[in-house]
Amino acid sequence: MERTPGRVLVIVPTYNERENLPLIAGRLREALPEVHLLVADDNSPDGTGEIADRLAEQDDHIHVLHRPGKQGLGSAYIAGFRWGLAEGYDVLVEMDADGSHQPEELHKLLNRVARGADLAIGSRWVRGGRVVNWPASREILSRGANIYVRRMLGIPVRDATAGYRAYRASTLEKIGIDDVESQGYCFQVDLTLRTVRQGLRVAEVPITFVERTIGTSKMSRAIILEAFWRVAVWGVDGLPGRLRRRRR
Ligand code: GDD
Ligand code: MN
Repeated sequence: MERTPGRVLVIVPTYNERENLPLIAGRLREALPEVHLLVADDNSPDGTGEIADRLAEQDDHIHVLHRPGKQGLGSAYIAGFRWGLAEGYDVLVEMDADGSHQPEELHKLLNRVARGADLAIGSRWVRGGRVVNWPASREILSRGANIYVRRMLGIPVRDATAGYRAYRASTLEKIGIDDVESQGYCFQVDLTLRTVRQGLRVAEVPITFVERTIGTSKMSRAIILEAFWRVAVWGVDGLPGRLRRRRR
């Protein structure tokens, strides 16, 4: 039998996902009816925010956080985490709106949290993990980024950039989210590193990541560059500790 990890909030950040949002919301509500959904929309020009409001009107398990403009994936999640912690949820989940993170696989992540993980990562690069419909360029970028991260930071995580995750509320309280500066996708690496450095338990669960068929990715050169230099800074920052441990 599967244990439940308590009250669960799934946070879905959106920027121009008007066609994807109703699909992902429907799939999530069907897969796990007890789970709540928070849409964190950055005033999408395509009207995703109004669509979210309409969904929330019809369903008391759906909530919306409207932000004034595009401020990045990391900052959308921080705002969502704050909302969820204030509302008393026990587990906070990150999920993309575009269908890449399948709601039908969420029970696997929640199970690991119920069994003691402080953070469960839906991982593409562990045995059993898969990617569907990714161009070679994206696969090279993701694999390369993870090699770079492991080298620079020395953390034992295969998919530190992954965006499908379940955090125990206590994990977010322990690692502290008020001083997170990462705005783009390096936010994922940032929080992974904080969790590992706190000595908390990270579990990787194999998932099948399905590349979006509707809309476009918000990945940009600026986002890659931010990740590149921040990871370098964190690596240098943690170097004294790693060297000390190695000498012992
Ligand atoms: N609110 C808000 N603000 N949402 C955003 C923003 C933003 O500035 N930027 C992106 N999003 C939303 C998108 O609308 C989507 O729901 C989700 O964040 C992921 O955006 P994508 O643009 O589809 O990301 P991706 O597919 O390129 O990247 C995915 O994989 C990366 C690792 O390979 C994400 O899961 C990343 O988090 C992950 O690091
Ligand atoms: Mn995507």
